[in-house]
Amino acid sequence: MKKAVGKTILVTGATKGLGRALSYYFAKEGAVVHGCGRDLQGLRLLAADLPEPSQFCEVNVADDGQVEQWSKRVIAEVGAPDLVINNAAMINRNARLWELSADEICEGWNVNVLGVTHVIRHFVPAMLKRGTGVVVNFSSGWGRSTSAEVASYCASKWAIEGLTQAFAQDLTESGKSVVAVAVNPGIIDTQMLRSCFGSAASHYPNPEEWVRRAGPFLLSLNARHHGRSLDIPGESATWRSE
Ligand SMILES: NC(=O)c1ccc[n+]([C@@H]2O[C@H](COP(=O)([O-])OP(=O)(O)OC[C@H]3O[C@@H](n4cnc5c(N)ncnc54)[C@H](OP(=O)(O)O)[C@@H]3O)[C@@H](O)[C@H]2O)c1
Repeated sequence: MKKAVGKTILVTGATKGLGRALSYYFAKEGAVVHGCGRDLQGLRLLAADLPEPSQFCEVNVADDGQVEQWSKRVIAEVGAPDLVINNAAMINRNARLWELSADEICEGWNVNVLGVTHVIRHFVPAMLKRGTGVVVNFSSGWGRSTSAEVASYCASKWAIEGLTQAFAQDLTESGKSVVAVAVNPGIIDTQMLRSCFGSAASHYPNPEEWVRRAGPFLLSLNARHHGRSLDIPGESATWRSE
């Protein structure tokens, strides 16, 4: 039986890697998927494979105005999402912290941290109004541990862990049944992993293998998980320090 019939699921960063694999998985399970990204070719491919009522839009999550417009369109068409996957993120080139420019560091934080806050601010009020929903903020092994040459990314993912816990407390105080969790997806062979691990990324599962465990797990999240920092069962939880 399909596991997501009747659900509307929002996936940021749907054009590649984990977000792309999740979009296909959720659509296959019967969900209406609203995904975003900046890569027009990737968005066209998704729209061709996963037709309406699913929709894939050009949205830069670092741009508050673009996220606001997207939220208005999605909520007007399908109402508040049942599940939000804050997946979009980037990693800087491998470099010691002082070797990155201020612009490079800001770019990462604008996507990885502010992007998540923009999505929460524009979609969660409608979820609260309805009184239900789940928000998943993708963290990382590097949101709970550290390595050299990825300090700015580590800091952004540690921020996601803290942000998610405090956001979950806000939700608890609201008295509504909207759930927030931080999820470390594991270690998966994507463009992001290739950027930091090089060819060693091929030792890890690809997104299509990963989604077989991750997809059902993400659909199973509920009030019991509220405020927790979770790992995908069966996935390596910690990045290897090279
Ligand atoms: N792969 C791993 O081993 C691993 C491990 C731990 C955590 N994670 C986390 O898992 C998530 C997915 O990672 P991934 O490995 O799938 O990365 P990826 O292959 O590099 O894909 C990143 C996705 O994010 C989108 N994106 C980046 N900046 C964006 C922006 N400003 N606005 C909208 N979309 C944006 C990209 O789309 P466009 O290019 O179209 O904008 C792309 O679809 C991230 O949160 C990452 O930190 C991954």
